[in-house]
Amino acid sequence: IPVAASCDVTDLAGTTAVVFDVLRATSTIVTALASGFRLVYPVAEADEARALAEARGFLLAGERGGEKIAGFPHGNSPLEFSAGPAAGSDALVLTTSNGTGAIRKAAAAACVLTGSLLNARAVAAAVLREGRDVQLVCAGTAGEFSLEDALGAGFVLVEMEQAAGGLPEMDDLAMAAYDLARFYSRDPLAGLRAGRHGQKLLRLGREADLRWCARLNRFDLAPVFTGDCLMVPGVE
Ligand code: MLT
Repeated sequence: IPVAASCDVTDLAGTTAVVFDVLRATSTIVTALASGFRLVYPVAEADEARALAEARGFLLAGERGGEKIAGFPHGNSPLEFSAGPAAGSDALVLTTSNGTGAIRKAAAAACVLTGSLLNARAVAAAVLREGRDVQLVCAGTAGEFSLEDALGAGFVLVEMEQAAGGLPEMDDLAMAAYDLARFYSRDPLAGLRAGRHGQKLLRLGREADLRWCARLNRFDLAPVFTGDCLMVPGVE
């Protein structure tokens, strides 16, 4: 299976696309769906997210610039969702600076998965099962390359190598991501601390989030984007 990596969402038609926004949108989505949330609606704009949550009685969460959006009950820390839904809705509406918009834009792909360090092995198994060419979409920050997203893509490649008994055919960015994951394999947290967005989250007092997002293969699920919401196939 040929694997390419990129920082944008063009040319996804016919591929299995995996979107990575490791700090923190896709880590938050994976955590919520692994912890009892049934559906996560990724929404690009805050107003649209608020309106959807109000209309459907869903839980509302969102971040801009790394901080909770004023008036929203929840931000974008995975730790806010790791205990599962409290009484009320088990559907979450999430809007973030980059990640949720990237997931929506990736909808042109034949299959859209969300990847993170937390579920790298499960994503590798899912893309191998799907069998199409793979695009690893490193969402980045404001259109720019982010170290932690390449690291997430690289760990999926490491897991694909182990599952398939060899590396897939890769483009140069995928190769660089793979090498990055090998470099940080003993200390993924160091990789999350190193990048610009990791540094910013540390300045905002979010070290616990980084520690959580660095837990490699903590969850065995590969959330799928239906074009509307994210869910775990087979979980009704
Ligand atoms: C984003 O979508 O840009 C990120 O998830 C930002 C963050 O919450 O750290």
